Amino acid sequence: VGGDGAAAAFTRRRLLASAGGAAGALALGGAGYAIGRESDGGADTVPFYGARQAGIATAAQDRLVFGALDLTVGSAAELRELLRAWTDAAAHMTAGEPFGPVVESPEAPPIDTGEAVGLAAAKLTVTFGFGPDVFDGRFGLAGSRPSALRPLGPLPADYLEPARSGGDICVQACADDPQVAFHAVRNLARIARGAAELRWLQLGFGRTSSTTSAQTTPRNLQGFKDGTNNLKADDDAAMARFVWVGADEPQRWFRGGTYLVARRIRMLIEAWDRTSLGEQEQIIGRFKTSGAPLTGTHEHDVVDLDARQRGGAPLIAPDAHIRLAGSAANDGERILRRGYSYTDGIDPATGQLDAGLFFISFQRNPHIQFAAIQRRLGRNDALNEYIRHTGSALFAVPPGTARGGYIGEHLFRKHS
Ligand code: HEM
Repeated sequence: VGGDGAAAAFTRRRLLASAGGAAGALALGGAGYAIGRESDGGADTVPFYGARQAGIATAAQDRLVFGALDLTVGSAAELRELLRAWTDAAAHMTAGEPFGPVVESPEAPPIDTGEAVGLAAAKLTVTFGFGPDVFDGRFGLAGSRPSALRPLGPLPADYLEPARSGGDICVQACADDPQVAFHAVRNLARIARGAAELRWLQLGFGRTSSTTSAQTTPRNLQGFKDGTNNLKADDDAAMARFVWVGADEPQRWFRGGTYLVARRIRMLIEAWDRTSLGEQEQIIGRFKTSGAPLTGTHEHDVVDLDARQRGGAPLIAPDAHIRLAGSAANDGERILRRGYSYTDGIDPATGQLDAGLFFISFQRNPHIQFAAIQRRLGRNDALNEYIRHTGSALFAVPPGTARGGYIGEHLFRKHS
């Protein structure tokens, strides 16, 4: 960008200034704030405040930006300040407002970076979680570790890359507009400068799961309907049983929270695309077009794992994905899947597409639920020939907060 570009950028900024101005931006923000509040639950905003964090039981949006950050602060008090600032910013952004003036002083960088100005809230949700290392003693929080927040440890068929794994804090931003989701994570990282650094970042598109009964089932990059037999987030009883941490949690502050597992799963797309339709359907255990189980005709037909072909072989193969992932083995293992497709261009080493599923699941115990399923899948899933788990992270997602509070407040109340 030459001088002209800079001038153009400057002019654009001036334009914003004259449209809004410092006072104007605040006034606009103020107006937006009021509208945001009134339209809570309306078509375009998802309420930020509430007993649970949004972005879990709320209907999955179309786009994801997921950031994992490492903390560089040295004390619980500084971490608390960061969470306060993040909560405030997230509340504004999810209401469709800038969280600070885009235009204030020509001498200082804008507070809000501005790329979401003029864009709708796009159902933005921002969901925060704490990684296991937050409770390693650095902040004096070792006594408050959520009881299941132990690292997942190696699982069969892992090909994990440390640079795409772990992290102290996660910020899951979902929206129907990718720029709105990006703006959220970018600005939260910016607010955190000096207190936390981005460790890895993943963009996702095309939700790969239906998470409510009203949503139709989308397709993943293998072309199969994904989410048919997912937990439904509007099924309160199932959510209480499988997703929300309950009254049996010894860490009172974490009751009403949940655990988020993120897995970056690359699909070996070229190999998959050379596989015959019949084999693809055997691998999954469902028909590609309809999404029906191989033992049925309609998408939501109940899977019959005992059905056999005339020769006696099971219709759904012993190593089919839905047999091994399904809850037949242990009904207590069900999870809420809320993942997205991703593509990160071409793998320079092989010239092949680096694309797949950024898998996200929520559950009340990642070891008893996610890891138990993944252990079976990693050992025997027919899909393994076509996928590689390249990233992994686990976060404890605290409950939500009310206006005036901040995410994680109960953790700190105990320590202040
Ligand atoms: C790239 C990797 C993966 C792909 C392409 C994939 C694809 C699919 C598809 C097409 C279905 C059938 C439709 C449905 O019920 O949603 C399914 C079901 C399921 N998958 Fe996956 N999946 C992947 C990884 C995983 C992982 C890592 C887990 C958990 C550890 C998992 C857990 C499940 C579960 C629980 C079901 C429902 C099974 C049932 O009860 O019928 N999947 N998956």
